[in-house]
Amino acid sequence: MGPGICIAIDGPASSGKGTVARRVAKALGYAYVDTGAMYRSVALVALERGVPLEDGLGLGALAASLRFGFAWSLEGLRVIVDGRDVSSRIRAEAVGQAASAVATRPEVRSALLALQRELGAAGGVVMDGRDIGTVILPAAELKVYLDASVDERARRRHAELCARGVDVRYGAVRAELHQRDAQDKQRDVAPLRRAEDAVLIDSTGLEADAVVRAVLQLAHERGAVAHPV
Ligand code: CDP
Repeated sequence: MGPGICIAIDGPASSGKGTVARRVAKALGYAYVDTGAMYRSVALVALERGVPLEDGLGLGALAASLRFGFAWSLEGLRVIVDGRDVSSRIRAEAVGQAASAVATRPEVRSALLALQRELGAAGGVVMDGRDIGTVILPAAELKVYLDASVDERARRRHAELCARGVDVRYGAVRAELHQRDAQDKQRDVAPLRRAEDAVLIDSTGLEADAVVRAVLQLAHERGAVAHPV
Protein backbone atom coordinates (compact mmCIF):
# COMPACT_ATOMS: atom_id res chain seq x y z
CA MET A 1 0.00 0.00 0.00
CA GLY A 2 1.40 3.41 -0.97
CA PRO A 3 1.64 6.40 1.33
CA GLY A 4 -1.66 7.83 0.11
CA ILE A 5 -2.89 10.79 -1.90
CA CYS A 6 -2.90 14.53 -1.15
CA ILE A 7 -6.28 16.06 -0.38
CA ALA A 8 -6.56 19.87 -0.50
CA ILE A 9 -9.62 21.48 1.10
CA ASP A 10 -10.07 25.22 0.62
CA GLY A 11 -12.90 27.59 1.38
CA PRO A 12 -14.00 30.66 3.34
CA ALA A 13 -14.20 31.00 7.13
CA SER A 14 -16.65 28.66 8.88
CA SER A 15 -17.42 26.70 5.74
CA GLY A 16 -16.70 23.55 7.77
CA LYS A 17 -13.26 22.85 6.28
CA GLY A 18 -11.63 22.05 9.60
CA THR A 19 -14.29 19.60 10.78
CA VAL A 20 -14.47 17.86 7.43
CA ALA A 21 -10.69 17.76 6.91
CA ARG A 22 -10.10 16.32 10.39
CA ARG A 23 -12.73 13.62 9.99
CA VAL A 24 -11.58 12.64 6.51
CA ALA A 25 -7.98 12.42 7.77
CA LYS A 26 -9.05 10.21 10.70
CA ALA A 27 -11.13 7.93 8.48
CA LEU A 28 -8.23 7.41 6.06
CA GLY A 29 -5.48 7.31 8.70
CA TYR A 30 -3.88 10.35 7.02
CA ALA A 31 -2.06 13.30 8.54
CA TYR A 32 -4.07 16.50 8.93
CA VAL A 33 -2.48 19.91 8.43
CA ASP A 34 -4.47 22.99 9.53
CA THR A 35 -2.71 25.83 7.69
CA GLY A 36 -5.13 28.40 9.18
CA ALA A 37 -3.72 27.46 12.59
CA MET A 38 -0.27 28.48 11.32
CA TYR A 39 -1.47 31.94 10.22
CA ARG A 40 -3.36 32.26 13.50
CA SER A 41 -0.21 31.31 15.44
CA VAL A 42 1.90 33.91 13.63
CA ALA A 43 -0.79 36.49 14.44
CA LEU A 44 -0.98 35.45 18.10
CA VAL A 45 2.78 35.69 18.63
CA ALA A 46 2.90 39.01 16.72
CA LEU A 47 0.20 40.44 19.01
CA GLU A 48 1.99 39.13 22.11
CA ARG A 49 5.37 40.55 21.05
CA GLY A 50 3.99 43.80 19.72
CA VAL A 51 5.10 43.23 16.10
CA PRO A 52 2.95 45.66 14.06
CA LEU A 53 0.56 43.92 11.63
CA GLU A 54 1.83 46.25 8.86
CA ASP A 55 5.46 45.18 9.35
CA GLY A 56 5.80 42.59 6.56
CA LEU A 57 9.51 41.97 7.09
CA GLY A 58 9.15 41.59 10.85
CA LEU A 59 6.18 39.25 10.44
CA GLY A 60 7.99 37.21 7.79
CA ALA A 61 11.01 36.78 10.07
CA LEU A 62 8.71 35.81 12.92
CA ALA A 63 6.85 33.24 10.77
CA ALA A 64 10.15 31.71 9.61
CA SER A 65 11.39 31.41 13.19
CA LEU A 66 8.42 29.51 14.67
CA ARG A 67 8.49 25.73 15.12
CA PHE A 68 5.04 24.22 14.52
CA GLY A 69 3.77 20.91 15.78
CA PHE A 70 0.38 19.18 15.61
CA ALA A 71 -0.69 16.48 18.05
CA TRP A 72 -3.93 14.61 18.59
CA SER A 73 -5.29 14.55 22.12
CA LEU A 74 -8.60 13.50 23.72
CA GLU A 75 -9.89 17.05 23.15
CA GLY A 76 -8.94 16.97 19.48
CA LEU A 77 -6.06 18.46 17.55
CA ARG A 78 -3.52 20.46 19.59
CA VAL A 79 -1.38 23.14 17.97
CA ILE A 80 2.08 23.48 19.48
CA VAL A 81 4.25 26.51 18.69
CA ASP A 82 7.82 26.58 19.97
CA GLY A 83 6.84 23.94 22.50
CA ARG A 84 3.79 25.88 23.77
CA ASP A 85 0.22 24.62 23.36
CA VAL A 86 -1.64 27.56 21.75
CA SER A 87 -4.74 25.57 20.66
CA SER A 88 -7.29 27.62 22.62
CA ARG A 89 -5.61 31.01 22.35
CA ILE A 90 -5.45 30.99 18.54
CA ARG A 91 -9.24 30.53 18.31
CA ALA A 92 -10.02 33.98 19.77
CA GLU A 93 -11.91 36.22 17.33
CA ALA A 94 -9.28 38.96 17.56
CA VAL A 95 -6.62 36.43 16.54
CA GLY A 96 -8.73 35.35 13.53
CA GLN A 97 -8.95 38.95 12.35
CA ALA A 98 -5.23 39.50 12.90
CA ALA A 99 -4.50 36.22 11.05
CA SER A 100 -6.33 37.50 7.99
CA ALA A 101 -4.25 40.71 8.09
CA VAL A 102 -0.99 38.82 8.60
CA ALA A 103 -1.94 36.47 5.72
CA THR A 104 -1.96 39.37 3.24
CA ARG A 105 1.85 39.77 3.73
CA PRO A 106 3.90 38.02 1.02
CA GLU A 107 6.82 37.62 3.44
CA VAL A 108 4.62 35.59 5.78
CA ARG A 109 3.15 33.49 2.99
CA SER A 110 6.54 32.59 1.55
CA ALA A 111 7.87 31.69 5.01
CA LEU A 112 5.00 29.22 5.49
CA LEU A 113 4.87 27.93 1.90
CA ALA A 114 8.02 25.79 2.08
CA LEU A 115 6.97 24.21 5.35
CA GLN A 116 3.45 23.46 4.11
CA ARG A 117 4.76 21.91 0.87
CA GLU A 118 7.15 19.77 2.90
CA LEU A 119 4.27 18.56 5.06
CA GLY A 120 2.41 17.49 1.91
CA ALA A 121 5.39 16.07 0.04
CA ALA A 122 5.06 12.48 1.24
CA GLY A 123 1.33 12.20 0.46
CA GLY A 124 -1.20 10.65 2.83
CA VAL A 125 -2.28 14.10 3.95
CA VAL A 126 -5.38 16.27 4.20
CA MET A 127 -4.49 19.96 4.24
CA ASP A 128 -7.02 22.77 4.63
CA GLY A 129 -6.74 26.51 4.08
CA ARG A 130 -7.31 29.13 1.39
CA ASP A 131 -4.60 28.44 -1.20
CA ILE A 132 -3.84 24.74 -0.84
CA GLY A 133 -5.26 23.64 -4.20
CA THR A 134 -4.07 26.76 -6.04
CA VAL A 135 -0.56 27.38 -4.63
CA ILE A 136 0.65 24.95 -1.96
CA LEU A 137 -0.26 21.55 -3.44
CA PRO A 138 -1.26 22.28 -7.07
CA ALA A 139 -0.77 18.59 -7.98
CA ALA A 140 -3.02 17.27 -5.19
CA GLU A 141 -5.00 14.26 -6.43
CA LEU A 142 -8.18 15.63 -4.85
CA LYS A 143 -9.11 19.29 -4.42
CA VAL A 144 -12.31 20.34 -2.73
CA TYR A 145 -13.67 23.88 -2.49
CA LEU A 146 -16.07 23.92 0.42
CA ASP A 147 -18.49 26.83 0.48
CA ALA A 148 -21.71 27.84 2.27
CA SER A 149 -23.83 30.97 2.31
CA VAL A 150 -22.58 33.79 4.53
CA ASP A 151 -25.76 33.51 6.65
CA GLU A 152 -25.24 29.82 7.25
CA ARG A 153 -21.57 30.33 8.08
CA ALA A 154 -22.39 33.19 10.45
CA ARG A 155 -25.00 30.99 12.19
CA ARG A 156 -22.42 28.21 12.63
CA ARG A 157 -19.74 30.56 13.94
CA HIS A 158 -22.21 32.29 16.26
CA ALA A 159 -23.39 28.95 17.70
CA GLU A 160 -19.76 27.85 18.15
CA LEU A 161 -18.92 31.07 20.01
CA CYS A 162 -22.04 30.86 22.22
CA ALA A 163 -21.13 27.25 23.09
CA ARG A 164 -17.71 28.53 24.21
CA GLY A 165 -19.43 31.10 26.43
CA VAL A 166 -18.49 34.10 24.27
CA ASP A 167 -21.16 36.80 24.44
CA VAL A 168 -21.46 38.19 20.90
CA ARG A 169 -24.33 39.28 18.65
CA TYR A 170 -25.15 37.38 15.44
CA GLY A 171 -24.94 40.61 13.43
CA ALA A 172 -21.41 41.29 14.63
CA VAL A 173 -20.29 37.76 13.75
CA ARG A 174 -21.81 38.05 10.26
CA ALA A 175 -20.16 41.43 9.64
CA GLU A 176 -16.79 40.10 10.75
CA LEU A 177 -17.07 37.05 8.45
CA HIS A 178 -18.12 39.22 5.54
CA GLN A 179 -15.14 41.50 6.04
CA ARG A 180 -12.68 38.59 6.38
CA ASP A 181 -14.08 36.95 3.20
CA ALA A 182 -13.46 40.18 1.30
CA GLN A 183 -9.91 40.52 2.64
CA ASP A 184 -9.07 36.86 1.87
CA LYS A 185 -10.51 37.02 -1.67
CA GLN A 186 -9.12 40.41 -2.67
CA ARG A 187 -5.53 40.21 -1.49
CA ASP A 188 -2.79 40.22 -4.13
CA VAL A 189 -0.91 37.11 -3.03
CA ALA A 190 -2.62 33.70 -3.03
CA PRO A 191 -6.19 35.00 -2.69
CA LEU A 192 -8.97 32.61 -1.76
CA ARG A 193 -10.41 31.18 -4.97
CA ARG A 194 -11.55 27.84 -6.28
CA ALA A 195 -8.87 25.98 -8.26
CA GLU A 196 -10.15 25.11 -11.74
CA ASP A 197 -9.92 21.41 -11.00
CA ALA A 198 -11.45 21.61 -7.51
CA VAL A 199 -14.77 19.93 -6.79
CA LEU A 200 -17.21 22.50 -5.41
CA ILE A 201 -19.30 21.38 -2.45
CA ASP A 202 -21.87 23.82 -1.11
CA SER A 203 -22.55 22.75 2.45
CA THR A 204 -25.47 25.15 3.01
CA GLY A 205 -28.15 22.99 4.61
CA LEU A 206 -25.90 19.90 4.70
CA GLU A 207 -24.84 18.08 7.87
CA ALA A 208 -21.08 17.61 8.35
CA ASP A 209 -21.64 13.83 8.01
CA ALA A 210 -22.93 14.22 4.47
CA VAL A 211 -19.96 16.37 3.44
CA VAL A 212 -17.49 13.91 5.00
CA ARG A 213 -19.14 11.03 3.13
CA ALA A 214 -18.98 12.95 -0.16
CA VAL A 215 -15.28 13.80 0.28
CA LEU A 216 -14.41 10.22 1.28
CA GLN A 217 -16.22 8.92 -1.80
CA LEU A 218 -14.21 11.29 -4.02
CA ALA A 219 -11.00 10.31 -2.20
CA HIS A 220 -11.64 6.61 -2.85
CA GLU A 221 -12.33 7.36 -6.52
CA ARG A 222 -8.94 9.12 -6.68
CA GLY A 223 -7.09 6.18 -5.21
CA ALA A 224 -7.19 6.69 -1.44
CA VAL A 225 -7.28 3.48 0.56
CA ALA A 226 -8.22 3.66 4.24
CA HIS A 227 -5.46 2.58 6.53
CA PRO A 228 -6.65 3.74 9.95
CA VAL A 229 -3.98 4.26 12.60
O1 CDP B 1 -11.29 28.82 10.99
P1 CDP B 1 -11.49 29.88 9.98
O2 CDP B 1 -12.06 29.35 8.72
O3 CDP B 1 -12.18 31.06 10.53
O4 CDP B 1 -10.08 30.47 9.60
P2 CDP B 1 -8.70 29.73 9.46
O5 CDP B 1 -8.78 28.65 8.41
O6 CDP B 1 -8.21 29.32 10.79
O7 CDP B 1 -7.76 30.89 8.86
C1 CDP B 1 -7.57 32.13 9.51
C2 CDP B 1 -7.07 33.15 8.48
O8 CDP B 1 -5.79 32.73 7.98
C3 CDP B 1 -7.94 33.29 7.23
O9 CDP B 1 -8.91 34.30 7.34
C4 CDP B 1 -6.96 33.60 6.12
O10 CDP B 1 -6.77 34.98 5.96
C5 CDP B 1 -5.65 33.01 6.60
N1 CDP B 1 -5.26 31.81 5.85
C6 CDP B 1 -4.65 31.96 4.63
O11 CDP B 1 -4.50 33.08 4.15
N2 CDP B 1 -4.19 30.89 3.93
C7 CDP B 1 -4.36 29.64 4.41
N3 CDP B 1 -3.89 28.61 3.72
C8 CDP B 1 -5.03 29.46 5.64
C9 CDP B 1 -5.48 30.56 6.33
